[in-house]
Amino acid sequence: MTLKFDLQPSPAPRSDAEREAVLADPGFGVNFTDHMAVATWTAADGWADSAVVPYGPFQLDPASAVLHYAQEIFEGMKAYRHADGSVWLFRPEKNAERFAVSARRLALPELPVESFVEAVEALVEADQAWVPAGGEASLYLRPFMFASEVFLGVRGARKVQFCVIASPAGSYFSGGVQPVQIWMSRDYTRAAPGGTGAAKCGGNYAASLVAQAEAAEHGCSQVLFTDAVERKWVDELGGMNVYFVTADDQLVTPALGTILEGVTRDAILALAPELGLTPVERRVSLEEVLEGCRTGAITEIFACGTAAVITPIGALKGLDGTTAVADGEPGPRTLELRQALLDIQYGRREDTHGWMHRV
Ligand code: COI
Repeated sequence: MTLKFDLQPSPAPRSDAEREAVLADPGFGVNFTDHMAVATWTAADGWADSAVVPYGPFQLDPASAVLHYAQEIFEGMKAYRHADGSVWLFRPEKNAERFAVSARRLALPELPVESFVEAVEALVEADQAWVPAGGEASLYLRPFMFASEVFLGVRGARKVQFCVIASPAGSYFSGGVQPVQIWMSRDYTRAAPGGTGAAKCGGNYAASLVAQAEAAEHGCSQVLFTDAVERKWVDELGGMNVYFVTADDQLVTPALGTILEGVTRDAILALAPELGLTPVERRVSLEEVLEGCRTGAITEIFACGTAAVITPIGALKGLDGTTAVADGEPGPRTLELRQALLDIQYGRREDTHGWMHRV
């Protein structure tokens, strides 16, 4: 049975003026809307108490399992306002399916796809006025689930909290579409075979932070991880997937396994042939990437994710020095793909794949 998320109106929603001030310069992940969608799960009764309620803090017992064993998963997705004022989600079922995959890996209960989409839709509908218009701004949606059971034993929790919050968002990187530099981590890896690399769980991101800080110390916006076994194969970045454009028009990305199955990654694979590129999912060694940048066999590299959209990578930095990607400027293929994706999301290009979902 699909859960219903009925609206309990916020007693004190922000005024139009307050909201407009936020929407004029939303930043990323710092401002939140008036409501949130919630539901709870217990081993005894399953899913219950679903509603859209005023945005506000949770009261958590200090012994809540998530605070000790990090039994938590999340998603990232966006709502876009089209020129006619309508509001759309991009492939929400894909996020719902991935959320279920993550839940299985983290021993959390699965939320049915229809209930996940219902929750997101109900929140966006309640907080429609918070969906920015114009430019590349959107309403970033963050569904998440955590172990709320008060218990210090190590096993899957028998009480779980589900929630969706919404945050008006501009560009994830402060430079927008300006190329970013990437730090090649030597000491840290992100995911081992059999581990949680393919799940979107907070622990993966927590484990990336020290490497991310190292990247920042070297003037880089993201860290690039290689595989945990041979330290040879490109895995993904701290919080996004990565793509390589070759001189013979291939669009290469690391094969699935220990990486996150990005929704943007998947959309790019589908869009590539429409732009004359051959999509290829395979293992890519870091050595091949560096050599390819030096010889010109690799002409462009970009990062992709819901938050990052498609962001050009201008250089790879490591302890042995810096390797520029072509002339360091955003490449034409990167920009074309970015435009094609954004045009679909904002309703300016025909949605031949049936990706957009009207709220
Ligand atoms: C997203 O792209 O939505 C993510 O979840 C990545 C996060 C680092 C912002």
